[in-house]
Amino acid sequence: MEVVILQDAATIGGVAADAIEALLHRKPAAVLGLATGSSPLAIYDELAARRDAGRISFAQARGFTLDEYVGLPADHPERYRTVIDTVFVNRVDFAPGAVQGPDGLAADIPAACAAYEDAIQAAGGVDLQILGIGTDGHIGFNEPGSSLASRTRIKTLTRQTRVDNARFFGDDLEAVPTHCLTQGLATIMAARHVVLVATGRGKAEAVHHLVEGAVSAMWPATILQHHPHVTVLLDDAAARRLQLVDYYRETYRSKPEWQGL
Ligand code: F6R
Repeated sequence: MEVVILQDAATIGGVAADAIEALLHRKPAAVLGLATGSSPLAIYDELAARRDAGRISFAQARGFTLDEYVGLPADHPERYRTVIDTVFVNRVDFAPGAVQGPDGLAADIPAACAAYEDAIQAAGGVDLQILGIGTDGHIGFNEPGSSLASRTRIKTLTRQTRVDNARFFGDDLEAVPTHCLTQGLATIMAARHVVLVATGRGKAEAVHHLVEGAVSAMWPATILQHHPHVTVLLDDAAARRLQLVDYYRETYRSKPEWQGL
């Protein structure tokens, strides 16, 4: 696991966008795993700017989102499908239908989850997965206690996650859905490269467990310690509880430029 501590979200966005730009040049038909939430916004801004500048194209690329609330109407502004279209997909040049997400309005939820897993497989798997992390250590919406071998399925959101996300629902906890569909931890682990972004003090405890804690379903992101290619991009506040912070800084400082993420 590579830990990179940078000064702010915009710098993190640039470093992550560099990795995605390199991937798209190497493999124009790359498959991207897309997270919603605030953590990846700077990455999407930077990718949209690079697309506008003609540096990159998503015309042959595909995308799969991580998760979706169950039961939010198709026209609800906080539906993750709507959010990802607004913050990223509609700002670049993906082909129509190239980005898919779990169907939170499906009548047959288990069948929809299985179909989503099949679609990811059929696309050849995810080349680069962008992740945020919840204050309770969730990735996707794999809440504490999630099976470390889980695949896409329905989950109940914890009260903590609903409180954290109430800011998107006019601070009305009751308006936050109670259930979601999410890629499982094993689904996420199948991505070839995982880039996780965390900023702010509120993420420091989860980041401490992710990087230096014991692997445990109580902190689901810790499963990433078993992944061969994970990059964790942090600001100082999110890194503040890491014991080996000086080592991570020195390692990144002395990294040869050709190596990339
Ligand atoms: C979003 C997702 C979540 C978020 C996490 C952090 O698709 O799967 O795991 O990444 O809740 O959210 P933010 O970035 O808003 O702090």
